[in-house]
Amino acid sequence: MQIIIENDAGSKFDFDYEELITSVITGALDYVKCPYEAVVEVNLTTDEDIHSINKEYRKIDKATDVLSFPMLEFNTPGDFDFLDEDMAIDCFDPDTGELVLGDIIISVERMEAQAREYGHSVRRELGFLVAHSMFHLFGYDHMEDGEREEMERLQGDLLNILKITRDESFDTSLKSENEELINIATLAKDKAYAPYSNFRVGAALLAKSGRIYTGCNIENISYGATICAERTAAVKAVSEGEREFVKLAIMSDLDDFTYPCGICRQFLSEFAKDLTVILGNKNGEVLEIPFETLMPDTFTFRKC
Ligand code: THU
Repeated sequence: MQIIIENDAGSKFDFDYEELITSVITGALDYVKCPYEAVVEVNLTTDEDIHSINKEYRKIDKATDVLSFPMLEFNTPGDFDFLDEDMAIDCFDPDTGELVLGDIIISVERMEAQAREYGHSVRRELGFLVAHSMFHLFGYDHMEDGEREEMERLQGDLLNILKITRDESFDTSLKSENEELINIATLAKDKAYAPYSNFRVGAALLAKSGRIYTGCNIENISYGATICAERTAAVKAVSEGEREFVKLAIMSDLDDFTYPCGICRQFLSEFAKDLTVILGNKNGEVLEIPFETLMPDTFTFRKC
């Protein structure tokens, strides 16, 4: 068995990530009863890197959480019988005779942001991403509904067997809260519906309850009916019962910081007694601004 793990992002974790990756990979191989010793390569990389790999190999011009590059073409997912045939010789490493399954690439930023968003540990998120990717290496996919359900069932079952559950909470000491919120806003940006401006904005709103609400801009052909990322997050929060906002992180595709527009400032002011706005840019710089400096002397009225 060869499990090659690279940490190109140079990330530090408060758990033994190599041990976790190894146990998920060996657990997955046992789970599908792989009859061969296998080779799997895992790379923990940056968002920027995974973005360029996604663009180069899948022609998708955006970052993602995990990319799987299977080496085998299964006739039936998880069924290794086809490897008995003579022509399958190419699937094995000529030196070691081990089965070359493929590569897994994970964005550490996205992994951490997703853990934060789902409220579970980075360990659990890493376990999930590796398990998910292993099933791709075994020929499973989730393009169609039936396939997706089957893959979800298998990866859930594997994680249960390995006792990698969702009950561990996110460890905020790993990253500052601001960085985490910026990561979540960056992730939310990918959901933007912006066919008219092609300008994507993501927001992550931390409300007083401790919950985080994400938002993206949602454009409309009428232009005027467009809703900004900040207001999307705000309406999600208020409609869940929140009335006080603590932090709001905003990210866009610009190299520069993106400030909230005037309509959003007015909209937010209602819930922004102690709000801090966190702006991030592509260089990883973070600005922290008290909301009141962006919106002094807010409009108010008193009925006579
Ligand atoms: N936009 C936001 O989402 N937030 C802002 O604060 C400013 C603008 C969006 C709206 C529109 O979809 C696009 O950016 C271009 O204006």
